[in-house]
Amino acid sequence: MSTPVPIPKAELHIHIEGTLEPELAFELAERNGVRLPYATVDELRAAYSFSDLQSFLDLYYALMAVLRTERDFTDLADAYLARATAQGVRHAEIFFDPQAHAVRGVGMDVVVRGLAAALESAEERHGMTTRLILCFLRDRPADEALRTLEEARPYFNVISGVGLDSAEVGNPPEKFREVFATARDAGLHLVAHAGEEGPPAYVWQALDALGVERVDHGVRCMEDEALVERLRSERMPLTVCPFSNVRLRVVDRLEDHPLPRMLQAGLMVTVNSDDPAYFGGYAEDNMRGVRSALGLGEEDVRTLARNSVNAAFIDADRRAALL
Ligand code: ADE
Ligand code: ZN
Repeated sequence: MSTPVPIPKAELHIHIEGTLEPELAFELAERNGVRLPYATVDELRAAYSFSDLQSFLDLYYALMAVLRTERDFTDLADAYLARATAQGVRHAEIFFDPQAHAVRGVGMDVVVRGLAAALESAEERHGMTTRLILCFLRDRPADEALRTLEEARPYFNVISGVGLDSAEVGNPPEKFREVFATARDAGLHLVAHAGEEGPPAYVWQALDALGVERVDHGVRCMEDEALVERLRSERMPLTVCPFSNVRLRVVDRLEDHPLPRMLQAGLMVTVNSDDPAYFGGYAEDNMRGVRSALGLGEEDVRTLARNSVNAAFIDADRRAALL
């Protein structure tokens, strides 16, 4: 039986560092003389068993040690572009975590130039348009986020927006009110992870204190009826990541995922892969996973794909071409 053609879509929640496959991690470790605490690819893959967000983040940050040069970031992004294209992704908005590299002495210049070198020819090579979104680490101080934003200012021509990620609980969005206001004044788009492990109150804050244009994850909004109504009435996009939610124990099983209830409630949901190298699949894998586990129909899948294009930071011509 031939494999079905993946549905054309946009991917709006993808951490480029979360696309680091074990094979590439070993290749870069060798190239850069970095010692990994795992002997083989299989041994590393066996470590991908997580109890919560923090247990994943510990490994995610540790493996970044292999990313050192512009070429490493170019290779990482190139590998993602090839995989995403094969999965029907026609437009990708890609997160990166500059603070996680700065602490290892890898500066903004290396990270952004390396990523941009891959992305600038993505349309020509893959027919895929891309955006870069700089994420602040919410478990680091707000003044460090502000300094990071200023370091990125020379690259605002290739950075479309800012986001907020890392350990959510105990690091509410309002901690970053000032940095998001500064980013907005600079003309950048605004998104934030909220309501992944954190409570619905963090989603309210992302909307009201940060003024985000999309909520990343947001699945815990379903615990607050008034919040669901607010998100629905504003047609606020939610970038849901089903495989991630299972692997990080936000939900027990894919069959228990709230996605069908979110669609039923009229929320503008999209399906994304988050950190596909760690969570067992890329964009289309997630789409097919929810389809079979949750019994979604053709029409639901079309809605999810259309939502992803409508929620993307693209101009009307590109949107029309993708719809
Ligand atoms: N960084 C990478 N993946 C993340 C996630 N799912 N939540 C928060 N921060 C992240
Ligand atoms: Zn994420």
